[in-house]
Amino acid sequence: MPDRTAGLRTAAAHAEAFLDTLDDRPVAARSDAGAVRTALGGPLPEQGEDPAAVIDALATGAEPGLVATPGPRHFGFVIGGALPAALAADWLVSAWDQNAAFHSLSPAAAAIEEVGSTWTLELLGLPRTASVGFVTGGQGANTTCLAAARNAVFAGAGWDVERDGLIGAPPIRILCGEQAHATIYTSLRLLGLGEQTTIRIPADAQGRMDPVALAEALAANAGPTIVCAQAGNVATGAFDAFEPIADACTEHGAWLHVDGAFGLWAAAAPATRHLTAGVERAASWAVDAHKWLNAPYDGAMAIVADPDAHLAAMRLAGPYLVADPGQRDSTNYVPESSRRARAVPIYAAIRSLGRAGIAEMIERNCAQARRIAKQLSTIPGAEVLNDVVLNQVLVRLPGGDDGNRAAVAAIQRDGTCWLGGTTWNGEYVLRVSISNWATTDEDVDRSAAAVAAAVTG
Ligand SMILES: Cc1ncc(COP(=O)(O)O)c(C=O)c1O
Repeated sequence: MPDRTAGLRTAAAHAEAFLDTLDDRPVAARSDAGAVRTALGGPLPEQGEDPAAVIDALATGAEPGLVATPGPRHFGFVIGGALPAALAADWLVSAWDQNAAFHSLSPAAAAIEEVGSTWTLELLGLPRTASVGFVTGGQGANTTCLAAARNAVFAGAGWDVERDGLIGAPPIRILCGEQAHATIYTSLRLLGLGEQTTIRIPADAQGRMDPVALAEALAANAGPTIVCAQAGNVATGAFDAFEPIADACTEHGAWLHVDGAFGLWAAAAPATRHLTAGVERAASWAVDAHKWLNAPYDGAMAIVADPDAHLAAMRLAGPYLVADPGQRDSTNYVPESSRRARAVPIYAAIRSLGRAGIAEMIERNCAQARRIAKQLSTIPGAEVLNDVVLNQVLVRLPGGDDGNRAAVAAIQRDGTCWLGGTTWNGEYVLRVSISNWATTDEDVDRSAAAVAAAVTG
């Protein structure tokens, strides 16, 4: 009999060794993909190898190319860590190797997904009757939600887009805030709705869609319409004003989609909940679990208020795909058929923190964003450019674009923390995102000192 678990024990030892380095290793990778390619590439192996030897070689070869993204001082992009229970649950997902497409393939995966859905809706204050699909990320969630939106708005215009497609379909309008995330446009392209056809609604200095301009644009023309709003701008953390936006959408019969990849978690914490006021009035919501909930990659939720629109856009049917009566087949809410049971680590993340722990993590990360903003603003010539309402900070360091680019490179080289840059209002600036369960105030202080040192050289 083959030893099924020897490789697992080797993997556990390597995983433990990696996790033990997270607090202290330089955050950036030690080498680029070239070194890993050299270590792990070469000719296609003719003969197989012992599982433990494969894992050993893999872990050793990958090591210099690993980034401490799950560590407490990676403040680039919007990167969460992996809560211990969620990480361990993710290992179980692989060991169980369940196909989470159908109830008949895994009643366990189906049930855990249902519980995860219910808990997520409650945490986020969304309608309990909404349907939830567990997808790979914000991109998948936006695409799934906008597919449901596409179904519903065309149906409202008397057109069955699932049956007849887009050729010959009546025109629809899509309105997005000027600062909509890039993944919204990928979703629109994938759905055959196009990128350049979108009407862009001007945004204010924080990146919030102007609700008056939206109402005017909606009033300018009648017809089936989708509006994309945002909970948490990827640069500033700002929230669109959902009450007036929802009012305008209701008045004009538009489908309101909210991209809340990380920001929607603000609804789960008393100190930040006000930022999401009115968000529950939307028709669909995209939210990541691998960002601020700190579930491991990959996992996100596509949430749709009208389960029929969700099902109509995503359902899978075939002669051998017979549903178990009274049971929920997860595949009917996502674009995939066969898939891993990615709701399991999300369930574990929620259960390990509880409502109070999630609120504490969100509020702590927001306080840490304010803390680092205050510290960075004391660097001579530096300026914090955004209202730090959430976990995102934009800082212009001295020296113009070149100075800021050089500082970002120096910070990444130093390795105490990892910060990226972005272009904001035409300027290259530093961007900080704090969304890790393990980040302490001391991590923030060390990182602010490293930024100051990079500026002063
Ligand atoms: C507002 C927003 N939407 C969508 C995404 C895409 O999420 P993902 O990378 O999980 O697909 C992001 C990523 O940062 C985001 O900030």
